[in-house]
Amino acid sequence: MAILATILWACLLLLGTVTVQSSYSLFCNYLVASKIGVRFHVIPISHLNHFWMLVDQRVLRYVKRIFGESTFTRYNWMGWELNDRYHSHHELGDVFMLVTPGRNWLYIGHPDIVMDIVRRRDDFPRCVELTQILDVFGPSVGSVEGQRWLQQRKLMASCFNEPYNEVVWSESISQATDMVRYWSSRPSVRSTADDLRSVSLGVLSKAGFGKSFKFEGHEETSHADPAASYKDSLQLILENCILLIAMGPKFFTNMPWLPFKWRQLGEAVKAFRKSMTDMYETEKREVAVGKSNVGTRRTFLSSLAKASLDAKDGEGLTEREIYGNIFVINFAGHDTVSHVFTFAVYFLAANPEMQDWLSEELRHVLGDRQPSEWNYTTDFPRLKRCLAVMYESMRLYTPVPVTKWTQDKAQSLDIRDKTILLPPNTMICLAYSSLQTDPRWWGADSLTWRPSRFIKQTAGGPGPRGKGADLDAEQFVQPKRGSFVGWSEGARDCPGRKFSQVEFVATMASLFRDWRVDPITFEGERVEDARKRVLNLIETESAMVLLIQMLHPEKAPLTWSKRKV
Ligand code: HEM
Ligand SMILES: *[C@@H]1O[C@H](CO)[C@@H](O)[C@H](O)[C@H]1NC(C)=O
Repeated sequence: MAILATILWACLLLLGTVTVQSSYSLFCNYLVASKIGVRFHVIPISHLNHFWMLVDQRVLRYVKRIFGESTFTRYNWMGWELNDRYHSHHELGDVFMLVTPGRNWLYIGHPDIVMDIVRRRDDFPRCVELTQILDVFGPSVGSVEGQRWLQQRKLMASCFNEPYNEVVWSESISQATDMVRYWSSRPSVRSTADDLRSVSLGVLSKAGFGKSFKFEGHEETSHADPAASYKDSLQLILENCILLIAMGPKFFTNMPWLPFKWRQLGEAVKAFRKSMTDMYETEKREVAVGKSNVGTRRTFLSSLAKASLDAKDGEGLTEREIYGNIFVINFAGHDTVSHVFTFAVYFLAANPEMQDWLSEELRHVLGDRQPSEWNYTTDFPRLKRCLAVMYESMRLYTPVPVTKWTQDKAQSLDIRDKTILLPPNTMICLAYSSLQTDPRWWGADSLTWRPSRFIKQTAGGPGPRGKGADLDAEQFVQPKRGSFVGWSEGARDCPGRKFSQVEFVATMASLFRDWRVDPITFEGERVEDARKRVLNLIETESAMVLLIQMLHPEKAPLTWSKRKV
């Protein structure tokens, strides 16, 4: 009994200490915030508290049921921004703050202020604390700062070139063509998201390592020994990324007594590292004898290795940095792309007239040519409607939120009518969900998915004008700078922007020139009801996990059929 009581007391004491400590820092943060001169709300728990994150929405649902809606239930969970859209910014102004026991978070809802922040890269750096967790295999461009970042970024940019985009283009077409063949061979497809994920992994593996894999549908996967293939090992690593990040790769490779699943992960880590080392060693040898065929192979690893070995002393990457960057590319270019793909396919399934609109452009540009004859240089720039579908899907469901901070210095910031002084340690969120839906720059239908908002008809020249001429006269309208932050902006934006656009457009072309997609209707349902149900699934069951994604796309099976021309 005495022991039990002691334990109980110890727990209470601990809880008490934590409560007092966090109340105290909340109070300090409140004092800081009240001097800044922007409106703010106070929330009692840091929304990045790991324990809280596990239960936040479940607890808040009860609290809401008992006490009704409050600041606590509205803001105190990770990912609240998505559903809130522009409402908080319309209530509280272009800039407002959430005061938490951790740090103070400033939300920026005006494009001009966003651009000011991203241009001042040294004043408002990325909070690399948040990305250093990705350094599983070594430091990378995503997790370093200052001079080192500049070097890595320059080397990386030199690898993302046009010949490289051509590889992305043709591999996406080949993967997606196989995928749609698989999809159309079955009466109903529940594995849309998984299959799109395989495509994006296939593209990365070809573009990153020059390894091509045949597309395998969800139910065709052979589940081979992960150590046997680079793709399977990478897939296993990415699927267990969080676990890997939490425990570190050594944990899984050095412990013989772990459960089978975890040992398998250890094997995958070893295999992945070995294939990176092999390829790097090959490249080193070839550079040493002065023979490098990077020009013909054009893989990311070989370009990075070559650029690095060619660089002047001290400007190349270390071996660990190369591995770190290869991993970060795989991580950053995988789920991001596949979540955007999934949203787009479901939005299109709910909007058949948009499929017709898309297919019209595809038929016009690609004609009857075989997919293997589609040309990156000449066709890609003409597929503006495809690109518009990507932008429109990301506008409503941007996968990656961007956070900056003031680090250890105070910074002043102009917020239109006045200048405020932000203390050190202030977090700054580019309020994607507000910026990208605010009717002030997106119009009254800003919450509707309508890709044609990105397309403008330019006046064609004189002469006879047909449908084709109209299509050729269409232009893609870039959104107002700062009102769309899907790939972030400024020097620290996403270096994979073009990569992901090429991949997206090639995939959409492969799916929608010859095929159409519809939701499977449930018993007693008309197809219009099924489309509404799909839209509803997107709107009510999308949320932030690690990225913003559809939580249960498998709930709405889809069916693919040949388009009538
Ligand atoms: C639709 C797909 C994609 C989206 C929405 C996206 C979005 C973003 C965003 C918002 C950032 C900035 C993050 C921050 O400031 O915290 C970023 C950074 C980055 N992205 Fe992407 N990305 C996509 C695809 C890709 C692809 C395909 C690659 C590579 C092949 C890639 C590689 C990177 C890298 C390396 C960084 C870090 C850059 C740096 O710190 O300088 N991304 N991405
Ligand atoms: C694509 O078209 C351009 C211009 O007509 C041509 O130079 C290039 O060789 C073509 N590429 C392929 C892969 O056919």
